[in-house]
Amino acid sequence: MYWISAPRMETQTGTENVRFNLLTDMADPQMEASAGPELMEEGEPLLSNLDIFLFSLIVGLFVYWVVFRKKTEAIPEFKKLETPETSFIEKMKKTGKNIVVFYGSQTGTAEEFANRLSKDAQRYGMKGMAADPEEYDMSELSRLKEIDNSLAIFCMATYGEGDPTDNAQDFYDWLQEGDADLDGLNYTVFSLGNKTYEHYNAMGKYVDKRLSELGAKRIFDLGLGDDDGNLEEDFVSWREQFWPAVCEHFGVEATGEESSIRQYELKVHEDLNMNKIYTGELGRLKSFENQKPPFDSKNPFLAPVTVNRKLNKGGDRHLMHLELDITGSKIRYESGDHVAVYPTNDATIVNRLGEVLGVDLDTVISLNNLDEESNKKHPFPCPTTYRTALTHYLDITNSPRTNVLYELAQYASDPKDQENMRKMASSSPEGKALYQSWVLDSCRNILAILEDLPSLRPPIDHLCELLPRLQARYYSIASSSKVHPNSIHICAVVVEYKTKTGRTNKGVATNWLKSKVPTDNGHKATVPMYIRKSQFRLPFKASNPVIMIGPGTGIAPFMGFIQERAWLREQGKEVGETVLYFGCRHKNEDFLYQEELEAFEKEGVLTRLNVAFSRDQEHKVYVQHQLKNNKEAVWRQIHTDNAHIYICGDARNMARDVQTTFYEIAEELGGMMHTQAVDYIKKLMTKGRYSQDVWS
Ligand SMILES: Cc1cc2nc3c(=O)[nH]c(=O)nc-3n(C[C@H](O)[C@H](O)[C@H](O)COP(=O)(O)OP(=O)(O)OC[C@H]3O[C@@H](n4cnc5c(N)ncnc54)[C@H](O)[C@@H]3O)c2cc1C
Ligand SMILES: NC(=O)c1ccc[n+]([C@@H]2O[C@H](COP(=O)([O-])OP(=O)(O)OC[C@H]3O[C@@H](n4cnc5c(N)ncnc54)[C@H](OP(=O)(O)O)[C@@H]3O)[C@@H](O)[C@H]2O)c1
Ligand SMILES: Cc1cc2nc3c(=O)[nH]c(=O)nc-3n(C[C@H](O)[C@H](O)[C@H](O)COP(=O)(O)O)c2cc1C
Ligand SMILES: *[C@@H]1O[C@H](CO)[C@@H](O)[C@H](O)[C@H]1NC(C)=O
Ligand SMILES: *[C@@H]1O[C@H](CO)[C@@H](O)[C@H](O)[C@H]1NC(C)=O
Repeated sequence: MYWISAPRMETQTGTENVRFNLLTDMADPQMEASAGPELMEEGEPLLSNLDIFLFSLIVGLFVYWVVFRKKTEAIPEFKKLETPETSFIEKMKKTGKNIVVFYGSQTGTAEEFANRLSKDAQRYGMKGMAADPEEYDMSELSRLKEIDNSLAIFCMATYGEGDPTDNAQDFYDWLQEGDADLDGLNYTVFSLGNKTYEHYNAMGKYVDKRLSELGAKRIFDLGLGDDDGNLEEDFVSWREQFWPAVCEHFGVEATGEESSIRQYELKVHEDLNMNKIYTGELGRLKSFENQKPPFDSKNPFLAPVTVNRKLNKGGDRHLMHLELDITGSKIRYESGDHVAVYPTNDATIVNRLGEVLGVDLDTVISLNNLDEESNKKHPFPCPTTYRTALTHYLDITNSPRTNVLYELAQYASDPKDQENMRKMASSSPEGKALYQSWVLDSCRNILAILEDLPSLRPPIDHLCELLPRLQARYYSIASSSKVHPNSIHICAVVVEYKTKTGRTNKGVATNWLKSKVPTDNGHKATVPMYIRKSQFRLPFKASNPVIMIGPGTGIAPFMGFIQERAWLREQGKEVGETVLYFGCRHKNEDFLYQEELEAFEKEGVLTRLNVAFSRDQEHKVYVQHQLKNNKEAVWRQIHTDNAHIYICGDARNMARDVQTTFYEIAEELGGMMHTQAVDYIKKLMTKGRYSQDVWS
C-alpha cells in the first residue's frame, strides 16, 4: 500500500512483515563466508606445515567467530519471525474478545465498517476485534462456540461478476467446497455492493446463505449496502437495529457510553534518525535501482513514465495517453488486465490543512494502537510526518463519512456547529438530508468542511486517525503485452469539476498523472504501480469474431485487444472479424487514437470501425444506435459465428443501455420474448462471451 525508505515494517493491513529484514540479514553471512576462500587464495603460494596449521587455526577461529557471532545476532531476528497467529480463536481467548468482525474488502470500506463494529462492542460491555480472513484459519469458525456469548460478523464487498474481494477468496473457496459443521456458530452479515452491477451484493448474500446451510445460526438479518445509493446510510441504519438485537440475544444492556474512544495514541519524536522515518513514495525513489520483485499491492514497482501526451485535439477536457516502462521488473500482464497506481495528494490541499489547523506538518510522529494485541499497530506506516501521512497515506479529498463527522463534532467550539455535525451523523431524516446536501451533493471534502466551519479545529492527530486510507486507482491497460512486453499504456481523462460551493475539485490520480512529465536528465518521473489480473480476455480461439464497444475512455482495453489481434495475424493465425464501436463528443475534438484506429482499419486488422459522434448533430448518436443500425450483422456474428462481446467504460448509463440494445436485437432478429432475450444474454455471460469492464 505504500513505499518506504526504511525496511518494511508492516503490510497494508498492518501485520509485521519481517521477511524483508530476514532476506537482507541473510545476505550478510553469505558475503562474509565467501570472504573466507578469497583470503586463502591471497596467502603465499608455498607454505610450511606450521604455516598451514597456524593459518588453518586462524581461518578456523575466524569462521567460528563469524558463525557464532551471526548466530547470537540472528536470534532477535528469528524471534520476530515467529509465524503470526493464524488462530483467531486463540487470539480471542487470549485477549478476552467475544465478537470477531471479518471483512472482505478491496478498497477499504468493508474494513472500515468492520473496525467501527468492533469498536461499537465496547458500548455493550462486549469486546470485538476486526479480522482479515486472509490472515486467519477460517476453518476455526466451527470452534467459535467455545467462547461464551460469541458472535461472528461478516462485512463482505462484491466485485466483478459477483466475485469475492482478493482477501476473501480463500474463505470463499473454503465455504464452497466446505462440508464444515458450523452448528453452534452465531453470525450476521452486512453486505457491500452497488446496484448498478449485475450481481448485486452477490458475495454477502452467498456468505449469509452458505453459513446457514452449514448449520450456523443467523442472529440478525443480512444487511444490504448500496454504494450507488448511500452506503453509509444503509450501514448506519442496519447497525442501529443490529446492536439492540444483539443485546436482546445475549441479555446485555448498553453501557450508555456514547463518547468517542480513541484507538491510537500520539507519540511525537524529537530526535529520530531521518532514515528511520517513512516518507511515502519519495523514500523509495532513492532506491529506484534496487527495487526487488515480485511487485504487488504491498510492494509496488516505481515505473518510469516514458510518454505522456494529450489525446484530444479540442474541448475543455484533458484526455491523456501514458506509457509506463516496466523493463527489468519481471512484471507480466495480459491484454484486459488492470494497472493499479498509488497516487499522491495535491500539496496545496495538504499545506492548506496544515494552515487551517495551525500545525507544523513536518513534526515526526507515531500513532500507536492502544490495543497492543491488535495486528494493526498503526493506522499508516509510522514513524512519519503529518505531511507524509496527508500526502501519501490518507484520503483527504473524498467526502468524509458520518462517523468522522460524529467523532470530530466534539472539537467544534460553536454549539450550533457541534449540533449540526452530530445531526448529520444521526439517522434522523433531517440529519440524513443535511448530510446528503451539505456534504455529499456539495462535494465537500475535509478541507472544505474545516473552512466552512471555522469553530471546528480538531487536533490533527485525531483527524489523521479518522481519515480513511488513500486508495490505489485502477486503469484498464491500453496495450498488448505481445507487442509491448516492457511497457504499459494508460488512457485516462483528467477529473476536474466545479462544486455547488464554487470550489474546483480535482481528481487525485488523474491530475497527479497529468503532471508526470517524462524527463531524461537523471530525474525520472515515476509511478508506483502493480498489475491486477482480470477476467476480461480475448477469445481463446482467434478465429472467433469479437465485437468491442467502448465509448470515451472505454476504448482503453480495446487498444490492447486490437494490437493483439494484429500481432496474431502477423503470426499467421486465422483471425476472425474484429469490430469496434467507439463513441465520442466531436469528430475533431475527442476522437481518441483516430490515426491508429484508421490505420488498423486500412490494414484490415479492424474489420470495421464504427464511430458515434454524439454532439456533431442535433440529436445524440451513441454506440448503441450504431449497433442497432448494424443489427443484422451483429445478430449473425453473435448467433451464427460465436462472436465474443466486450463492453468497456461508463457503468452508470452506457453499459446498461448497450445491454438493453442487445436484448432488443435478440428479440427482433431472434424472434424472442423479452424474458428469453434476457436469458439469452445471461447465457452468453456465463459462457464468457459477454464481458464487461466498467466503472463510474
Ligand atoms: C476496473 C477499473 C478500470 C478503470 N479504467 C479506467 C481507464 O481505463 N481510464 C480512466 O480514465 N479511468 C478508469 N477507471 C477510473 C479510475 O480508476 C479513477 O476512478 C479515475 O481516473 C478518477 O480518479 P481520480 O483519482 O483522478 O479522481 P478522484 O479523486 O477519485 O475523484 C473521482 C470522484 O470525483 C467525483 N466526481 C467526478 N466528477 C464529478 C462531477 N462532475 N461532479 C461531482 N463529482 C464528481 C466522483 O465522486 C468520483 O468518484 C477505472 C476504474 C476501475 C474500477
Ligand atoms: N455519471 C455519468 O452520468 C457519466 C456519464 C458518462 C461518463 N461517466 C464517467 O465519466 C468518466 C469519463 O467518461 P469518458 O470521458 O470516457 O466519456 P465521455 O467522453 O464523457 O463520453 C463518451 C461518449 O459516450 C457518450 N455517452 C453518454 N451517455 C451515453 C450512454 N448512455 N450510452 C452510450 N453513450 C453515451 C457521450 O455522449 P454525450 O456526452 O454527448 O452525451 C460521448 O459521446 C468515466 O469514468 C465515465 O464512467 C459518467
Ligand atoms: C470494479 C468494481 C466492481 C464492482 N462489482 C460489484 C458487483 O459485481 N456487485 C456489487 O454488488 N457491487 C460491486 N461493486 C461495488 C463494491 O462492492 C462496493 O463499492 C463496496 O462498497 C466496495 O467495498 P470495499 O471498499 O471494502 O472494497 C464493484 C465496485 C467496483 C469498483
Ligand atoms: C448462540 O445463540 C444461541 C441462542 O440463539 C445461544 O443459546 C448460544 O449460547 C449462542 N452461542 C454462543 C457461542 O454464544
Ligand atoms: C457505485 O457507487 C458510487 C458511489 O460511491 C457511484 O459514484 C457509482 O456511480 C456507483 N456505480 C459504480 C458502477 O461504481
